Amino acid sequence: MPILTIESTCDETAAAVICDDGSVLGECVATQETLHEQFGGVVPEVAARAHVERILPVIDTALRKAELQGADLDAIAVADRPGLAGSLLVGVVAAKTLAVAWKKPLVAINHLHAHLYACQMASDVSVYPCIGLVVSGGHTSLYHCTSPLDLEYLGGTIDDAAGEAFDKVGAMLNLGFPGGPAVSRLAAQGDPKAHAYPRSMLKEPGYRFSFSGLKTAVRYSIAPPGVKDFSDINLSDQAKADICASFQAAVVDVLVAKSVRAVKAYEAGFLIVGGGVAANPVLRTGMQTAAEQNGFQLVIAPMNLCTDNAVMGAIALEKMRRGQFAPLDLDITAGLQRGF
Ligand code: KG4
Ligand code: ZN
Repeated sequence: MPILTIESTCDETAAAVICDDGSVLGECVATQETLHEQFGGVVPEVAARAHVERILPVIDTALRKAELQGADLDAIAVADRPGLAGSLLVGVVAAKTLAVAWKKPLVAINHLHAHLYACQMASDVSVYPCIGLVVSGGHTSLYHCTSPLDLEYLGGTIDDAAGEAFDKVGAMLNLGFPGGPAVSRLAAQGDPKAHAYPRSMLKEPGYRFSFSGLKTAVRYSIAPPGVKDFSDINLSDQAKADICASFQAAVVDVLVAKSVRAVKAYEAGFLIVGGGVAANPVLRTGMQTAAEQNGFQLVIAPMNLCTDNAVMGAIALEKMRRGQFAPLDLDITAGLQRGF
């Protein structure tokens, strides 16, 4: 029997109906980009209120597309961690309410594990054991994964996440929100060698990342110290494109180098890459080249499963096979210790 999966960790409200063989019967994603655009970033309270308005219509749409009703479901799964507290609460409360009303078991999903599971969903063969890189708006984390549910955290960012850095650079250049896709589009017209931006922590052993120094370097190439309002900065389109391309090259270099380091250290046959930034074409090409040069298999999440969605919530089926159900007093976990 199929399951219903619910995702509301950040600013996407999503639901999907997924069969036990992983096939998707219906799905729906409602984005909030226009709501947050004027602020240049996600405003948690605005996001939570928008989830409240959208959650039931989104679930209803997914069920209608699947031509199913609550009674036809086997379980209800929801992302309970990590994310914005108010956003998570809306999904978790909706899932618990429907679980009680429809008398269905509840399954809790770790959103980061789900981002990586999107890669397994796209692969004909098992990708485990593997190294997993999550690059999203909130996280930049490397894991050694021996199964979809057994992940050892190796390291992650000590300040900004990769996607967050993309969004902030986009905001500084007045490119709109979210900045990631806009920066990557503009970068295609720019010279990645125009600015020698730092590759922070590249030489440091281990798997930690830092993007705040890079962000500051970009800031100073946009305007001199002291200038606080960037709205009337007069940079040519080419100058902006060069900044975007050089920034993107610095992010990609570090992500590729640390991922390859982990693959080698753990003698992994596969590297899997998920999360919104995995949609970046230069990162995808850079990872592919590294895979060919170093002789490992690469599986990057398909484009439609990179940014937040409920289809990757199919990881709940793996938990159900292990009998891992959540109690009805399930609470949210907004932040995670050591990247989990
Ligand atoms: O996984 P996601 O939808 O949300 C979180 O779990 O955080 O990731 C969203 C992030 C945003 O920061 C967005 O700017 C970034 O993914 N992103 C990109 C691209 N598409 C989305 N970053 C770089 N290049 C892209 N093409
Ligand atoms: Zn995400």
